[in-house]
Amino acid sequence: MSSEPIQSSAASQAPPSSTIWRDLGCVLAVTVLAAALGATFDLSEKAYRFTRGMERFQLDELPGTLLVLSIAMAWFAWRRYLDARREVRHRRMLEEQAERLLADNRRLASQALQAQELERRHLARELHDELGQYLNAISLDAARIRDLSSEREPEIHRIALQLMQSATHVYREIGGMIRRLRPIGLDEFGLPSALEHCVEGWRERLPEASFSVTIEGDFSGLSDALTITLYRLVQEGLTNVSKFARRSRVEVFMVRAPREDNGAQIDEIVVTMADDGPGTDLTKPRTGLGLIGMRERVEALGGEFHVASEPQGGFLFCARVPAHAGLAEPVN
Ligand SMILES: Nc1ncnc2c1ncn2[C@@H]1O[C@H](COP(=O)(O)OP(=O)(O)O)[C@@H](O)[C@H]1O
Ligand SMILES: [Mg+2]
Repeated sequence: MSSEPIQSSAASQAPPSSTIWRDLGCVLAVTVLAAALGATFDLSEKAYRFTRGMERFQLDELPGTLLVLSIAMAWFAWRRYLDARREVRHRRMLEEQAERLLADNRRLASQALQAQELERRHLARELHDELGQYLNAISLDAARIRDLSSEREPEIHRIALQLMQSATHVYREIGGMIRRLRPIGLDEFGLPSALEHCVEGWRERLPEASFSVTIEGDFSGLSDALTITLYRLVQEGLTNVSKFARRSRVEVFMVRAPREDNGAQIDEIVVTMADDGPGTDLTKPRTGLGLIGMRERVEALGGEFHVASEPQGGFLFCARVPAHAGLAEPVN
């Protein structure tokens, strides 16, 4: 299964100092060897004798000319070295600038997502508390009119029944909107139950697919940003299954477990979703925003997001996020 190419910053690396010393050693060794060979075989004398005979071609000027050429080449190389150093410095500066912009971008994206979730939550509460109450009152009033008019006013009785039906319809619609805005049970029963409920909904909608959910660990005490991110990851993954892999076997894993990283223990949450559907060629350009949004959400919380797939080879994504992400740093 091919995995998505990982974008790594092309950090310019200076050669290690051991290489520089080795090269300098080579230069000195070659010079000493040339001197030794020259001394052993009297090369200069032979060259002098040879070039003196060719004086009419000015060949006796060759050693001096070659010396000037080598000094000029050294100067030329030095100038190119300075150019290269300037170029590397410039590139490094651009890379740092790009990294800073990327970090700013991530922060902005994270804030935008948080603001969006806050607004959704607020809207869901308003819809539930305000509209829900009034609709309930309308239903009760309509029921009362229905009862009072049942024998005397058949027309009013009919209208009251219609009113009740309309109220029920709007109530159901609002229920759907609230569910889309704020996942059911997330606040009341916690993330594992909300996810089970979400998968249950897809089991009914996609009878040809099979779903298995494995959740291990304690998911209490997570920040709201992390909880909603984990939920939205699974939600988007399941939406993609409904679009691209309707007849597949889908496995969802969510685990909270400590991991060893350079001797330090990291408490992290790993979410993996895999299906054995038709997969896709990840090297081809894609237009959708779902996977990009998932990556944004995870990276905004300091996590990692990976996707792997190949044609006819299923589809998998894996997100690892520190469990403390989004919580205020402890004050020392
Ligand atoms: N479970 C899956 N199986 C096969 N292909 C998938 C799956 N999930 C995503 N893809 C591929 O990745 C692309 C990008 O997905 P996404 O970013 O969610 O965008 P969208 O759902 O809007 O197309 C999809 O167009 C599809 O080709
Ligand atoms: Mg999608």
